Amino acid sequence: MTAKIIDGVAAAAEIRQELKARVAGLAKRNIVPGLAVIQVGDNPASKVYVRNKIRACADVGIRSWKYEFPADAAPAEVLKLIAELNARPDTHGILVQLPLPPQFAIAEILQTISPEKDVDGFHLYNVGGLVIGQTVFPPCTPYGVVKLLERENIEIEGKNVVVVGASNIVGKPMALMLMQKDATVAICHIKTRDLAQFTILADILIVAAGKPNLIVPQMVRQGAVVIDIGINRLPDGRLVGDTDFEGLLEKASYITPVPGGVGPMTVTMLLANTVASAERVAQAG
Ligand code: GUN
Repeated sequence: MTAKIIDGVAAAAEIRQELKARVAGLAKRNIVPGLAVIQVGDNPASKVYVRNKIRACADVGIRSWKYEFPADAAPAEVLKLIAELNARPDTHGILVQLPLPPQFAIAEILQTISPEKDVDGFHLYNVGGLVIGQTVFPPCTPYGVVKLLERENIEIEGKNVVVVGASNIVGKPMALMLMQKDATVAICHIKTRDLAQFTILADILIVAAGKPNLIVPQMVRQGAVVIDIGINRLPDGRLVGDTDFEGLLEKASYITPVPGGVGPMTVTMLLANTVASAERVAQAG
């Protein structure tokens, strides 16, 4: 069996087309979705991510604003801006790019974003919504994975899902979202003893551990669906995921490449959450 390679670029392009149509629908009601992106410091990776997010907004007709603070900014300055953005009717989404410099308590910053504008889905209100299956804004990366699985008609109900990686941004919300869809979910992480005894049971194996070649073919069940969320830069400059992609082609039934798999979906789902936020406002108004 040769795995079907899931094309995240094509899926993202298709979803962006749908979003453009929804943005046009909102325009008829004189609403332009708006996203505010806050960046503190000059982490090079964050700069690239922020630039991509701003560009992606323009691509589908979302208005965006970039707010930049120096690395030594006082948290109070950022909190003041968030309070202003919370009150602005033209701003439907607010995103604080992570990581933040050490003087910031990330939880405190995230909790001040209005849950109604928390398009990253990081506010405790939205995290709680995920736990009880009443999500307002699903976090973008796991949301993108769910969309890819749905697009390929991969059944989730009753399946064994193993998530490797237990971060607040990816692994934990991923597990909750698939639990909500009646999968049997195990979450593993870097401290898991004998990782292979779990991964081998997976019908759907989702890896977000940030370690190249962590998952090799003998750890994967024949015919499993493998979703690789890892993004690692090797010393020779190559970008790879957390799995042995080439080795798994003969083992998996579906697999996502890196780059070109989950990555393009993450920003697209941020756009989707921003459009959904503007639609909520339109419905309420
Ligand atoms: N840093 C790395 N990933 C993310 C993300 O999804 N959202 C934000 N705000 N910061 C990040």
